[in-house]
Amino acid sequence: MNRMEILFSSSPDVPPAGTAGMAVGPGLEWPPAAAALIDSLGSAFTDALQREKFTGKPGSAFSYHTGLPAPHTVVALGLGDDPGPEQYRRAGGMLGRRSRNEPKVCLLAEADGPLQPLLEGFLLSQYSFTDYKSDPEPAATETLSLVGAEDEAATERARINAEAVMFARDLVNTPARDKSPTAIAHRVEELAGPLGLRVVTHDEESLREGGFGGVLGVAAGSGRPPRLLEVWHEPAEAEGFAVLVGKGITFDSGGLSIKTAAGMENMKTDMSGAAAVLGAMQIIARREIPVKVLGLTPLTDNMPGPLATKPGDVLTTRNGKTIEVLNTDAEGRLVLADALALGVEQEPDVIVDIATLTGACMVALGLGIAGAMGNNDALVKRIMELGAPLGERFWHLPLPDDYRKQVESPIADMKNIGGKWAGTLTAGLILSEFAGDVPWAHLDIAGPRTADEEHYFSRGATGFGVLTLAALAEDLAGREAPFS
Ligand code: BES
Ligand code: MN
Ligand code: ZN
Repeated sequence: MNRMEILFSSSPDVPPAGTAGMAVGPGLEWPPAAAALIDSLGSAFTDALQREKFTGKPGSAFSYHTGLPAPHTVVALGLGDDPGPEQYRRAGGMLGRRSRNEPKVCLLAEADGPLQPLLEGFLLSQYSFTDYKSDPEPAATETLSLVGAEDEAATERARINAEAVMFARDLVNTPARDKSPTAIAHRVEELAGPLGLRVVTHDEESLREGGFGGVLGVAAGSGRPPRLLEVWHEPAEAEGFAVLVGKGITFDSGGLSIKTAAGMENMKTDMSGAAAVLGAMQIIARREIPVKVLGLTPLTDNMPGPLATKPGDVLTTRNGKTIEVLNTDAEGRLVLADALALGVEQEPDVIVDIATLTGACMVALGLGIAGAMGNNDALVKRIMELGAPLGERFWHLPLPDDYRKQVESPIADMKNIGGKWAGTLTAGLILSEFAGDVPWAHLDIAGPRTADEEHYFSRGATGFGVLTLAALAEDLAGREAPFS
């Protein structure tokens, strides 16, 4: 990962950078730090803005070539009316995109403006997944100088957030071949020590002894053994306890209910929930959030090998409930059932699972918004409120009681699929059987796990969920009776 340097410049002069960026709304009130530069560019600059019809619309950007040696390019970044943090994040991302080949970039910022999202956007825009390129072209930016705003703490938080999101993106973008459950377990074990996290790895034997029939049932058709990771953050003085559960299907072929070739193309990303949890745990550890947090990631392939679970088979999960598997492609709920049950045993204040669970959720909400369900409206509402300014949008979907009969099984406690409609909700209803009485939310991130936009996103994995989960843990600190 490139370790770009962020410098603060207290001098009123623009530092000798190739590209200078500045964010602005429709009134074109430039940050005070930009005044001298804009003055020196004179009417040629303002004429060019008019000619190009740059009006500060959100997501717009205009590059102006100054004819000067430095900065040779000035980038105006549109914020729109009444910009929130996400507009600043996108503006930072646009600047980063447009200056990827520039060793020295400078940002003319507002003294009291939201520096953290601006920097997060810039840092994230530098990301690209080049591990498998023979001739990679990483971002060339070495230093970002900030003029007009100086905030070490915000800069450090932005760096921690961006690095955790990039870690999650790396895991998700990695081909399935190179991220077996055991390989991910080793990576996490390695990483945890220096961060002060404690990892307990359940191997097959431990999963068998522990009664994790869901994980084992999904893993049965794969030549690679499953793992379930417990990642513990246990500060000396904790003010609450959260369990975060992430679906970690390292490849989803569908199993015997096999997917089509097109349906399988992107199924290395079916561990995006686990990646989000692992990214969030990094933030929680590095920021020393005073809340006890347990991250749980069931990790397994879903393959149609000779010993694979067959349609009609019944699995006994960790809490003793039985599930008739009628479609082996509805595997996420089977591994989450076990992990939720394990999490609930620890008696946390709150449990949240995050998963690429249903194609139906993409039909309902598209690629930009995740579904959120649960047994506690206040918790779901809080997640929506925390996510929005972080650029992670969630929308509350119902878990209707009368839909429960769709997942009744004649021979087991439930079956793993519902009827033709509302696949996201019937999946949520199955999960609810494993949340007990703990305030619980289920986040379906099938849509926003990847993107084909480029600003602070790069094509491929987004790292969606990392920031909201970390924010939720932080939010627990200092809450008297969370979501009771
Ligand atoms: N991992 C998929 C869901 C998914 C599909 C995520 C496309 C991202 C993009 C999940 O395991 C799955 O296959 N779900 C089935 C459930 C069905 C068999 C009830 C689905 O959504 O079709
Ligand atoms: Mn599936
Ligand atoms: Zn899946």
